[in-house]
This record gives sequence, C-alpha cells and structure tokens, in this order.
Amino acid sequence: MMSAAFAIKNLERWEYKVANLTRRLVVAFDKLCTSPLSKEQVRADPADLTLDFNKWINLWTIEAINNIALSSTLGLLEQGSDAVTAEKPDGTLYKARYWQAQNQTSYAQATFVWDYDNFHLLSWLSNLVPNWRSVWKEAEPWNDVVLHQAAERLRKYQAGEKLDDFFTCLMEDKSGSPNNLEWGEIVSEISVIINAGADTTAIALTQLMELLIRHPNELSHLRQELDLVLDKDEIVAPYDKVKDLPFLKACLDEGLRIFPPTSAGLPRRTPSEGAQILGQWIPGDTSVSMTIYATHRDPTVFPNPEEFQPSRWLDPEERKRMEPFFIPFTTGARGCIGRNISYLEQAVVVATLVHRYEFALPSKEWELQRHEAFNILVGELPVKIWRRGLS
Ligand code: HEM
Repeated sequence: MMSAAFAIKNLERWEYKVANLTRRLVVAFDKLCTSPLSKEQVRADPADLTLDFNKWINLWTIEAINNIALSSTLGLLEQGSDAVTAEKPDGTLYKARYWQAQNQTSYAQATFVWDYDNFHLLSWLSNLVPNWRSVWKEAEPWNDVVLHQAAERLRKYQAGEKLDDFFTCLMEDKSGSPNNLEWGEIVSEISVIINAGADTTAIALTQLMELLIRHPNELSHLRQELDLVLDKDEIVAPYDKVKDLPFLKACLDEGLRIFPPTSAGLPRRTPSEGAQILGQWIPGDTSVSMTIYATHRDPTVFPNPEEFQPSRWLDPEERKRMEPFFIPFTTGARGCIGRNISYLEQAVVVATLVHRYEFALPSKEWELQRHEAFNILVGELPVKIWRRGLS
C-alpha cells in the first residue's frame, strides 16, 4: 500500500514539503546568528552558543515527517520547542512534549524490551525506582501524541479535504477506492512511521554536523562543491541541484557509516528447522543479530574505520566493494522503507545549512554525549552560528 509513497521515483511529491520546512528552519537559525568567530579565537564565547543543533534538527525532522505523513504543521520551528497537543482515547486534550515523550519511550523500552516474556513485569517493577518512574512519566504521553495527530488528520479526511500524504495512501488505493483498514491498524501504521521517520534522520544530521565542524578540510571541500551549483542568494538548496553531488553524498554516507543511528543489534529469528549462518549451524527459533556499528568498523572492509574520511566513497570501484557492508538501514525485506526520503531530507538540509552558515563547537575538547538505546540517543550539540560571507 505504501510502497509508491516511499519510492525513489515519487520523491518529488515530498520535495516541496522538505523545501518549505527548510525555509522555516533558516528563519529560526537566522535569528540565532552571532557575529563571526575571529581567527585568533580558539573557543567560542559561551554566551554565543545560541543554537542546540540537536534540539532544532529534531524539531525539524518531527515537522518533516508529520507534514509528509499527515499534512500537519505543528509550529515547532516557530515556537522553538516540542510542546504539542496530545489526545487521550476518550478525547480529552492536554499539552505534552513530543520529542521528550518519544525519546523517553525509546530509552525505557530499549532497556527492558529484550527480555520479551518479562517486559511488562520489568516495566512495572522499574516504576518502583524513582528515576525510572520519572522516565516512564515523561514517556507516557507518546501514544496520545500520535493519536491526536492521527485523529486530526482523520477529521480533515472526513471533512472531504484532499491532501497528498501517507495518510491518503493508507485510506485509499491509487484509484481512490477505500482500503478499509481498521482504525487501530491505521493509528499503529502512523505511529511506526512518525516514530521511525524523525529521530533516525535527526541523529544522523546531528552527528554529521559535529563531524563536519571537527573536520574543517572536509567541510571546506563540501562548501566548494556546493558553491559551484548554488547561487549566492539561494536560500534553500533545490534537491535537483544537490542530489547527485558526489562529495555531499560521500559525507552523508560517511556520517551514517561511522555513527549509524540505529545502534541496537536488530534481532531476527531462525526458522524452526534451524539455519546455517556464516558457516555455523544455528538451532531453530534462536534470536540472531549483527550490529551495524561493528560491521561498519571492520578494518578489512573500511580501512582506518575510526577516521571520518568521506573521500573513501568517491571512487566508484571502492564504493561498489564497500556497499554490501554498509547497512545503516539494514537490508532485506524488513530494511528501512524510508531511506530515500531520509536522503532527500538530509541532502537538502545539509546543503542549505553548510552553504549559508558557519558553525563552531564550544571547544576542541568538547564531546557529544551518546547513549545506546534502540537508536543512539544523542545529547545537546551547542554551537555558535553565524552567516557566511558569500561576497
Ligand atoms: C538516517 C535515517 C534512518 C535510518 C538510519 C533508519 C534505519 C532503519 C532501520 C535500521 C530499520 C530496520 C529495522 C529492523 O530491521 O527491524 C528501519 C525500518 C523502518 N524505517 Fe527507517 N531509518 C531512517 C529513516 C527513516 C525515515 C525518514 C522513515 C519514514 C519516512 C523511516 C521509516 C521506517 C519504517 C516505517 C521502518 C519499518 C519497516 C518495516 O518494518 O517493514 N525510516 N529504519
């Protein structure tokens, strides 16, 4: 039902949405700009660290997926926070924190879910511990946040509004005949998509931005490439102009290689008759997994695996050799359905921001915090931001 909505040939359906959102992000970032960092300054003045890049890019990806999936605009980029309306199944409305609820759900579930049979018991027991109680409390609104988004969209659908989004693909087939899915099924699909489609891309973008700021030579190589195709006064990078830029693509892939956003070893179960895997016999009904992070650090495939080297992706022969081992979206039938949309979002926003702004970290020694949950939960990325002189 959804494959056409995610297909690479249909990306232009979402491009204008991504462009509008990026324009709104630029308006917000322009307001946070400071004066340029002088050449002699080794560290940014703490008062100039006006931008928490991780927070803002999460607000942006949340807006993006809700707009693409449900045609909704949450206003997060204007208000600078994740405050939204949530809706209980009985229709009661209340204010909730979108990003916080999603993150805390991920954090708590990723801690206890692996013992499937005892998940509910462990969750209940953890509520007896004050720290965990507050995590669960902050996570609590998540389902109501999703429900409100879905219910609002259903109200528009019932009012006859014709909108181009994933919701329409769930409700009707290409010829407009109803798919007749149950409401519970629709809400659960929406939940999966807006969950899977926001933090993953934001995690990738935050980590890539930090890597680029730390590697000025790579950043300047990327800028040179962008300056050749973008006009000086072009605010949002048009996807058509940037989608095939080799160094931009190399930076996106190298970021995803070195810090793949999905850090959990995604489990698969062997068939009941057992299976031969990499020369070893594994009995039936056994959970097996292989972490993306470790695969991307195999030095026989990726020489100097800890080094951020986008140029490793530039030689077509080398790319072909490495690609089978490059699995940030995993592979096979349950691999990521949203990878094309994520590349679209990443290409447009990275090109736009790198073309328009300069950034500085708090200091050379400063480190980004990462916590391994289902996806890597990334801490604040406080940066100084200023407009590039494009004269
Ligand atoms: C850098 C960004 C992203 C990364 C690293 C990523 C990673 C992944 C991974 C590893 C899986 C497989 C989970 C498994 O095998 O159990 C997955 C599944 C999925 N992803 Fe993504 N994803 C990204 C962006 C997106 C976006 C933008 C969307 C939506 C537009 C999306 C929607 C989904 C959905 C719906 C699934 C479940 C597919 C299924 O179960 O058949 N993802 N993603």
